[in-house]
Amino acid sequence: MVGLGLAANSHFKGYVSHPDAEVVAVCDTDIENAGDFAKEHGIQKIYTDYEAMVQDEEINTVDIATPTFLHVPMTISAAEAGKHIHCEKPFCRSVSEGESACQAVRRSNVKLMVGETYIFIASHMKARELIEAGEIGRPLQIRQRHGPWLRRNRRSDRKPPSNRNWRMSAEKSGGGDYPWIFDHAVHFFATAEYFMQDMKITEVYALTGTCQPAQGQRLHNTYSVPEVDIPIITWKYEDTDCQGVWMRAEGLNGKYDYVHGFSTTIIGECGMIEVLGEGGHNLIWENRQQHLILHRQDRDTHCFRFDQGGDDVWQSDICYYSQGHINQVYHLIDSILNDTKPRYNDEDGVRAVACTLATIQSAQEGRSVSVEEIEPDYTAY
Ligand SMILES: NC(=O)c1ccc[n+]([C@@H]2O[C@H](COP(=O)([O-])OP(=O)(O)OC[C@H]3O[C@@H](n4cnc5c(N)ncnc54)[C@H](O)[C@@H]3O)[C@@H](O)[C@H]2O)c1
Repeated sequence: MVGLGLAANSHFKGYVSHPDAEVVAVCDTDIENAGDFAKEHGIQKIYTDYEAMVQDEEINTVDIATPTFLHVPMTISAAEAGKHIHCEKPFCRSVSEGESACQAVRRSNVKLMVGETYIFIASHMKARELIEAGEIGRPLQIRQRHGPWLRRNRRSDRKPPSNRNWRMSAEKSGGGDYPWIFDHAVHFFATAEYFMQDMKITEVYALTGTCQPAQGQRLHNTYSVPEVDIPIITWKYEDTDCQGVWMRAEGLNGKYDYVHGFSTTIIGECGMIEVLGEGGHNLIWENRQQHLILHRQDRDTHCFRFDQGGDDVWQSDICYYSQGHINQVYHLIDSILNDTKPRYNDEDGVRAVACTLATIQSAQEGRSVSVEEIEPDYTAY
């Protein structure tokens, strides 16, 4: 495992609980952090040099959870050393950079999965199952709502990494003036395609606005607040009957939403699904908290809950930083053991970044941007 921060903590839960996996080495440039992680989890080998770790013959898979600008070079080194790869999102910072990683993966014939946790949480997987079973008819419209992510106090005793400034760096985050959007929008686009049964997004439009944090707002993470906000993104799909929207209202952009975290309404021909995602809370039906509500024309409404111990980071019963990440790691291990293609791979990761770059270009130019028109070398920084 390389990059022992927030994401790695969650990945580790997957490897340690899987009967066919073992974490044999960890790597971090912050030697104190690497030592603490190894000690806490009883891992023998500690590296501070990634290139040395990928040459270790005892290792057959590398888990990359470093800052975004390192994803592609680290993927290429791992592929060239013949290792399977679990790489965090966003996979790359430009389409051409992502494609160079795809080529290395193809040349070496290794498995690569991008850490798209939104398609591995129980509530989202159930929504997709209901859509596939025809419960709402043909899905036609996706409405994503982004309310506040509220932190839970239950955290590891280990100190966070000493330097998380990469998140606000235009270049290291890949997001230019929009680091938050670059880091998160890949999740929204991946989910938007997943609920549309893998139909591709073709065109996006970003609405911009200024943003001020609400008075006394405690930031949920290390992001400072950029002066320009993208509070709304809309998009079209290959089938022009279908469309989607993402809307953000939370203390970070000075707005209030009663529904916490990420949630989606999927509108079909004869029914609709409301479902909570990362950090989700306050989806209510008949005075009770629900995780998924299925409404159908002329039929009873059905509610679902997925109680798996609560989230480890957010005040939410949706198990994102716990079971979601565990499901994702298990899926990669299954793909390696059974020689199958991971559900979310390198090409998917590049496409989600292309949609995000189209969003940022749209914000910069004030017009809709088609995903195909993104120049291979275009970056947001
Ligand atoms: N899928 C998810 O739900 C999810 C959640 C959080 C983060 N992420 C993604 O995971 C990645 C990491 O984010 P994070 O929040 O865990 O970051 P973080 O800042 O908490 O941790 C990053 C770690 O990488 C280490 N590092 C930096 N350069 C290194 C190098 N050259 N070699 C070895 N180690 C190095 C740092 O010292 C630090 O310990 C990001 O791309 C982020 O978008 C995904």
